[in-house]
Amino acid sequence: MFSERIEFVQRKFGPLFSQDNNVIFFNPESPFQCLSLSLDNLVAYQTFYPVADELETAGIQCIQNVSQQKFNLAIVSIPKSKKLARHMIYSATKAVPEGLIIVDGDKTSGIESIIRDLKKHTKITNVISKAHGKMAWFETPTNLDLYKDIPTKIEGGFETQAGVFSSDGVDPASKLLAHFISQDLSGTGADLGGGWGYLSVKALETNSISELHFIEADLSALNVARNNINDQRVMFYWYDALKWKAPKLLDFIIMNPPFHYLGRAMPSLGADFVKVASRNLKKSGTLWMVANRHLPYEDAIKGHFSSFSELSGSKKFKVIRAENPIHS
Ligand SMILES: C[S@@+](CC[C@H](N)C(=O)[O-])C[C@H]1O[C@@H](n2cnc3c(N)ncnc32)[C@H](O)[C@@H]1O
Repeated sequence: MFSERIEFVQRKFGPLFSQDNNVIFFNPESPFQCLSLSLDNLVAYQTFYPVADELETAGIQCIQNVSQQKFNLAIVSIPKSKKLARHMIYSATKAVPEGLIIVDGDKTSGIESIIRDLKKHTKITNVISKAHGKMAWFETPTNLDLYKDIPTKIEGGFETQAGVFSSDGVDPASKLLAHFISQDLSGTGADLGGGWGYLSVKALETNSISELHFIEADLSALNVARNNINDQRVMFYWYDALKWKAPKLLDFIIMNPPFHYLGRAMPSLGADFVKVASRNLKKSGTLWMVANRHLPYEDAIKGHFSSFSELSGSKKFKVIRAENPIHS
């Protein structure tokens, strides 16, 4: 775990962590990870809204853009996406033009291959193995421009970016849901956890939609979604769908809800999305959702909607239409 490794490195290589350092911590998972470092001048870089919100609430300055400020120490806690991990390391070299970059990760996040690759492109000062993971550090300046990631185009001309959900192509579950919604939506609605925008693009093919609220927690996904959707009827929110409240109750909600949180399976998240959908819909409103067949959302749907039916799905996915939200 990060905390065990960093505590070990702080104890053994203390001078790396002078209080004079201006530190940027890329991708901390929690306020605890930042506060345990006991560093006075620490800024967190976090683009996933629920975590950014937690950090800010704990009094930790949180940024989403590193082009303005310069630091002399960066800690990069790598995400599971290898491309995104490399891009964060590239961003760290720009944020720390002269100083030290520490790269950390559990083995399950792919840290070993990241370090192997780093060794090919820069001189690594040290590597430690501890608590099922590794931590390595190197000095800047160094040129890791080849790690930079830029948005790319996939099938259908859609733009995506490393690390966003389904970045290599349209998600098959969303494709299935799109077949059912394209003709049937009208009025004001929302796309909860809209990703890079596929479902919204498909929904907006009908002129009967007057307004669509697009809520997404991953800022990179939201930014590419703006380009993919490009429609005056849409309002974009970088926000936590679980806390979102529609300005007025909605005619419809579409969603392919997440069931992972920070790379770990969490099926209760999808059930929470069902609850949010129910409280934001008019009595006459409709929820259209798709989910992996094995995910147990029926109880949540029954608890929050008076009627629902499964439209023909596939072996892997189920498309559900739920009506008559129960407002307590
Ligand atoms: C299964 S993906 C579906 C994405 C998109 N609707 C599609 O069909 O391609 C779920 C999305 O929900 C987002 N997400 C996860 N937790 C969220 C939250 N608390 N609030 C808003 N969005 C969230 C994820 O970043 C991801 O883009």
